[in-house]
Amino acid sequence: MSSRRSIVAVLFGGRSVEHDVSIVTGQQIMAAFPADRYEIAPVYITRDGRWFTGAPLLQLENFRDDALLEKPGIEACLLSPDTRHHGLIINPLAGRFSRSRVQRIDVVFPALHGSHGEDGSLQGLLELADIAYVGCATLGSALSNDKIMTKVALRQAGVPVLDDFWVTREAWVAAPDDIVVQIRDRFDFPLFIKPACLGSSIGIGRADDEILLRASLDVAASFDRRILVEPALTDGVEINCAVMGYGNDYEASPLEQPLGWDDFLSYEDKYLRGGEGMKSADRIIPAPIDDELGARIKSLSIAAFQAVDGRGIARIDYLVRAQTDEVYLNEINTMPGSLAFYLWHEAGRSRAQVLERLVQLARAAHVDKRRNTYDYQTDLLSIASQRGSKGAKRKG
Ligand SMILES: Nc1ncnc2c1ncn2[C@@H]1O[C@H](COP(=O)(O)OP(=O)(O)O)[C@@H](O)[C@H]1O
Ligand SMILES: [Mg+2]
Repeated sequence: MSSRRSIVAVLFGGRSVEHDVSIVTGQQIMAAFPADRYEIAPVYITRDGRWFTGAPLLQLENFRDDALLEKPGIEACLLSPDTRHHGLIINPLAGRFSRSRVQRIDVVFPALHGSHGEDGSLQGLLELADIAYVGCATLGSALSNDKIMTKVALRQAGVPVLDDFWVTREAWVAAPDDIVVQIRDRFDFPLFIKPACLGSSIGIGRADDEILLRASLDVAASFDRRILVEPALTDGVEINCAVMGYGNDYEASPLEQPLGWDDFLSYEDKYLRGGEGMKSADRIIPAPIDDELGARIKSLSIAAFQAVDGRGIARIDYLVRAQTDEVYLNEINTMPGSLAFYLWHEAGRSRAQVLERLVQLARAAHVDKRRNTYDYQTDLLSIASQRGSKGAKRKG
């Protein structure tokens, strides 16, 4: 490879309730890339899904400015699905007095949390564009982003998860009394009620009685079409583990025990208690658990990440029953806040080393995909044109 710097497009913001958290993660990532080897193309996606690039997006302070997008140096852009462009089209709707241009990108780094970024939709676009990108591909992102499907995949792989019940918004609205009966037949209170595809504790409720259950289902239904209900682990502690890898080569980080203030970690607990991102929430690293339990959680983390076809990075969160050390995987975050830099730090990895490893994994996965055959030459078209269109019936 030449000595030219690699161009990494870092995407952040996004059409998600975790928009603001993603801006912070994106800024941390851009600041930590070694400037001698990487050139950063910042790409900010607004809450309503408009894409912009330009130097002012490299400063976190600028995001306090309502006029940020009018600043000199900011240009509209989009990521082209056309493989020839291999990157961004800048100023795509150029008029008579301006020009559009293509900026080639070597690697895309989606620093987006939640919907339209961590859920497989963006990954689909990147697959079309045929550009190497950091993190899970379409399937791993979509499975991990959906709390219902995560459990389906993990049960199949023998990874322990809490029992659950799920319902669509349509079913809930059509027959709420029936749904409540079904839930009460199955579980005792307290219960957790969650939108299937949100993060940062948004839309999540804990219910100790039927009135709160109904209210929480209404709230969850206002955030997502599919809703998960599961028993609350009342005597539990939370333990998190980050993983990194691809193919046959995965590693687990040291473990942390995040400490909540209320019944569960709310958005406020996670992000609004000062400092940068989740870093400020109280946590114990390494988690004060015995070695056997720690080793079990690390190997479950790798098994779970492989089960969802994970690649790149994830932070995997567990609920552990304090008395018995029973472990339940709670969720897989495929774009963890701050990339769990603090856990890798504990493992002796600098931020730059984590980023370089992720870029390396992205490239490896991209090379691997090239080994798949997409071009399959047949005589179908010449045969079909001889016979007329009736001859070209599709079989199976
Ligand atoms: N079944 C449960 N029992 C006890 N606490 C839970 C349960 N599910 C979630 N929690 C608490 O709620 C928090 C948020 O839930 P989680 O499933 O992690 O959603 P999010 O994607 O929003 O982080 C967890 O960190 C934990 O504190
Ligand atoms: Mg969580």
